[in-house]
Formats: sequence, structure tokens, C-alpha cells
Amino acid sequence: MERTFIAIKPDGVQRKLAGEIIRRFESKGFTLVGLKFLKVSRELAEAHYDVHREKPFFSGLVEFITSGPVVAMVWEGEGVVAAARKLIGATNPLTAEPGTIRGDFGVNIGRNIIHGSDAVETAQREISLWFKDEELVNWQPHLMPWLH
Ligand code: TYD
Repeated sequence: MERTFIAIKPDGVQRKLAGEIIRRFESKGFTLVGLKFLKVSRELAEAHYDVHREKPFFSGLVEFITSGPVVAMVWEGEGVVAAARKLIGATNPLTAEPGTIRGDFGVNIGRNIIHGSDAVETAQREISLWFKDEELVNWQPHLMPWLH
């Protein structure tokens, strides 16, 4: 089953949007398989944003992502990588559609609340960068016997 890596950035955490964001992923029908709350090291931040190393915004981006705690998550479901990008919206919150997370809650490209992997291969790389195998939970909600 497809998985994607999602991180609520320090501004999303500061603004107490974690619950709202998790609710949107749950309501859509995706399954949470990994979650942790952490202060990101410079090493992890630089590895995560390695593709942007030569960009002018790289150092500011690393400063920002290491400046406060983030909620790191892995979500699972059919087509979850592309669907999560739709839920998140365009990189610049000013042009992100209303109804998307960035469109509803953000105004600044450098403070755009949330990260989501941009492709299946990127998701695999990011999940293994942020999570150990034993930190991910293999479960299928529809097979659980608790509902009444
Ligand atoms: P990118 O991977 O292009 O966007 P996305 O997060 O939508 O996949 O860029 C990574 C992050 O870098 C982006 O979320 C915010 C930051 N960024 C800037 O600060 N300035 C910029 O001009 C761009 C393109 C990105």
C-alpha cells in the first residue's frame, strides 16, 4: 500500500493547527502509520531538503525547519502521495486554492505550514530518513474488530 511522508512545520505547530491537519487526513480516509513530535537537527533538515541545497532559500529553510518542533507523520492509502499534495495545496499559500491546508491557513511561502512528499520515490526516501522501520505500524483499520 502506498505511503507518504507529511510534516507539520514549526509555524503549523506554533499556530496549533496539528489537530486540524490530522483531522483532514483522517476524514479523507487515510491511515496513520507513524507519528512523532521532534525538534529537527540541522543534519536531518539538510538531508531532507538536499535537492534545494543550491537554492537561495536553502539556508533560511533549514533555519526555519530547525527553529521549533515539528509533527512528523507517515500516512497510508491508495494514491496517498498525490492526494496529500492536493489536500496541502500549492507551495505558495497565497495562490493555494481555498479548501486546501495552505490555502486556508497560510500567507507566506517561507511559512507554509506543512510538507508532503512530491512523488512515490521521494516519499520512500523521506520515510526512511525520518522513521526507523520499527516506528511504523502495520495495521488495517477495516480489519479491526472493535466497531459496534
Ligand atoms: P518545494 O519542494 O518547491 O515546495 P513544496 O513544499 O510545495 O514541495 O520547496 C520546499 C520548501 O521550500 C517550500 O515548502 C517552502 C520553501 N520555499 C521557499 O521558501 N521559497 C521558494 O521560493 C520556494 C520555491 C520554496
